[in-house]
Amino acid sequence: MEKRDLLYEGKAKRMFRTNDESVLWVEYLDQVTALNGGMKDQMQGKAELNNQITSAIFEYLATQGIKNHFIEKLSKTEQLIKKRSIIPLEVVVRNISAGSFSKRLGVEEGQVLPTPIVEFYYKKDELNDPFINDAHVTFLELATPVEIAELKKQALQINEHLSELFKKIDLQLVDFKVEFGRTASGEIELADEISPDTCRLWDLVTHEHMDKDVYRRKIGDIIPVYQEVLNRLNQLSIENKGE
Ligand code: TMP
Repeated sequence: MEKRDLLYEGKAKRMFRTNDESVLWVEYLDQVTALNGGMKDQMQGKAELNNQITSAIFEYLATQGIKNHFIEKLSKTEQLIKKRSIIPLEVVVRNISAGSFSKRLGVEEGQVLPTPIVEFYYKKDELNDPFINDAHVTFLELATPVEIAELKKQALQINEHLSELFKKIDLQLVDFKVEFGRTASGEIELADEISPDTCRLWDLVTHEHMDKDVYRRKIGDIIPVYQEVLNRLNQLSIENKGE
């Protein structure tokens, strides 16, 4: 596979075309941002960690029947993905009250929700990614009602698989964000990344934050925290291989 010109540069990764027009080359960046770019820092080692964590999770989800864009990890900081037409929605699933949910509803963090809640945010930097409902999604022609049902179904399935996976490594999946794209034939498929940048993970034993809240809330250094998440995932995969 040949790396060609830069297609897109985001806050945490760059995407390049390849000699195959259905395949993109993703390079993770040593950059961390929060508050829609209001906080921004270079963080050596983050690219490697997120690329490896995301790759492991997308591979795991594929084994659980969740189709996604991931093809293969090329190096510590690079991976190949299938090109998708991204739906500009952040699909958030919450198991426990935290973050903007707690603020918006005036609910303390840490309350277990009776059933997982799916939320949509419109990906538009200039509007600050507003919280929107199904009718807004349809009005903006981001997805049809049938597609909205599919997005929710897949998001909840992903939640079940991820909650189970993280529980095995003593992490509680509080909430997470995923993004979806359409394949050439119009099917909805998981895309983007899943890492401690896009999930809230609380240690089941110590209750410590094991995710980007460490950066957002200026609690400490994210590198050792993300490394610990990767180590636990690697340990689990070694145990599963019976080594
Ligand atoms: P929130 O509580 O700030 O709405 O975040 C919910 C989840 O979504 C949390 O796990 C972090 C993740 N998230 C992103 O990955 N990207 C974003 O831009 C935002 C706002 C949240």
